[in-house]
Amino acid sequence: MTENHGTPRGRFITFEGIDGAGKSSHIKATAEWLRARGRPVLATREPGGTPLGEMLRELLLHQRMHRETEALLMFAGRREHLVQVIEPALERGDWVICDRFSDATYAYQSGGRGLDQAKFAQLEEWVHAHLQPDLTLLFDLPAGIARRRIAAQARDLDRFEQEQADFHERVRLAYLDRAAAAPQRIHLIDADQAPEIVMKRIEETIAIHCL
Ligand code: TYD
Repeated sequence: MTENHGTPRGRFITFEGIDGAGKSSHIKATAEWLRARGRPVLATREPGGTPLGEMLRELLLHQRMHRETEALLMFAGRREHLVQVIEPALERGDWVICDRFSDATYAYQSGGRGLDQAKFAQLEEWVHAHLQPDLTLLFDLPAGIARRRIAAQARDLDRFEQEQADFHERVRLAYLDRAAAAPQRIHLIDADQAPEIVMKRIEETIAIHCL
């Protein structure tokens, strides 16, 4: 662990999974759980997390664009997010909890959209060669169940949520491949369970790997 003027660097924890896996409510609960244990927490998201990133998010979620443009904008917003928010927060000792990061680009833009992963390795090297999450919690569940959860929410769906179940199943498989390649960092959470059980698993995993 690097030290900066005596302040221990914070931890960087990312949450991943297909749409409808239930990340958002658990991110809130995780932030509260950590704060109750005296950790300063900054909760943020991608795409988004900065004023520019939130503008890019609006475009990415609602504007049709070429799939390569989509991938490049994801990484451009990520660079801004790292420089303006994530790196300073970690330096001052905050725990950064991020709703999605580069694993999402591998899963959605490669698994979902079919782009070559080698391109992302180059972009990842450019944008955050020096930094990877300390821990990634991958919410896993079958795409069919996730679709039903989204359908039950009765709201307008974004470009990704509007994709068919086979798109989300490919995204899920790409996430699982990525987890198999980085088992020390990416930990699976079975998201097809009651919220209290999911929360227990999150707490156990963070306690083992970060506390
Ligand atoms: P998310 O925050 O999970 O949406 P919601 O507010 O509906 O919970 O993520 C927004 C969408 O962005 C999601 O469908 C996945 C997509 N996405 C990518 O395709 N690639 C990426 O690199 C990232 C970060 C997100």
